Amino acid sequence: PATGVLAGRRLVITAGPTREPIDPVRYISNHSSGKMGYAIARAAAAAGARVLLVSGPVNLPAPEGVEVRPVVTAEDMLRASERAVTEGCDVFIATAAVADYRPENCAGDKIKKTSEAMSLALVRNPDTLATIAARPDAPFTVGFAAETTDVARYATDKMQRKKLNMIVANDVSAPGLGFNSDQNAVTVFWPEGQESIGPDSKQAIAERLVTLIASHSDRIENA
Ligand code: PMT
Repeated sequence: PATGVLAGRRLVITAGPTREPIDPVRYISNHSSGKMGYAIARAAAAAGARVLLVSGPVNLPAPEGVEVRPVVTAEDMLRASERAVTEGCDVFIATAAVADYRPENCAGDKIKKTSEAMSLALVRNPDTLATIAARPDAPFTVGFAAETTDVARYATDKMQRKKLNMIVANDVSAPGLGFNSDQNAVTVFWPEGQESIGPDSKQAIAERLVTLIASHSDRIENA
């Protein structure tokens, strides 16, 4: 049997960007590389957890012992995450940088360059993390918040609004940290406390996060 602080726990982790199609050759996306989410998946598997990664399009190999379910759009990410949680999940960690909006319509054919200006109608995407946290059978939920200003205030607001157990605030205004880099610096908030981690490698930050998540989710389950 697995040993480690997460032995026997089932984790679902979202990672990477989503892609929202405009037409058959174009999409809206962002600079998430998936590195933070894959680092947490690797650390959690090493700590004994059974880990399922719901991953947007990234260029990373599956971490050892981790099942990866690839998705493309925000709507795919919601469906795959709901299915994964229904299959059994103790801790849900949302590191993905999900596109907040998608084109209202995806053109069937490549859009031609006929006018000098064009506009694209966008509609809101579903929120995977908020949907999982609102389930009656919600697991322990951990959100991420990438912010450039007032990091602590926006992050704790998000934790309360989305009814999360923990939120990891990522200051993405600092150069060389956050999106697409190998380094990061975060502050983790839970209802009664906080802890800053880094600047350090995403793998080292992931290992500390796994320890914190293991002890806090334990406390809730045993409450
Ligand atoms: O992938 P990397 O290059 O390693 O970069 C890592 C990261 C910077 C992307 C990551 O550490 C991070 O901060 N991810 C959250 C990005 C973000 O801006 O989240 P948000 O503030 O839009 O959303 C808050 C939370 O809700 C996140 O946990 C997000 O996954 C979740 N969410 C948001 C929108 C949505 N439609 N569905 C969601 O599940």
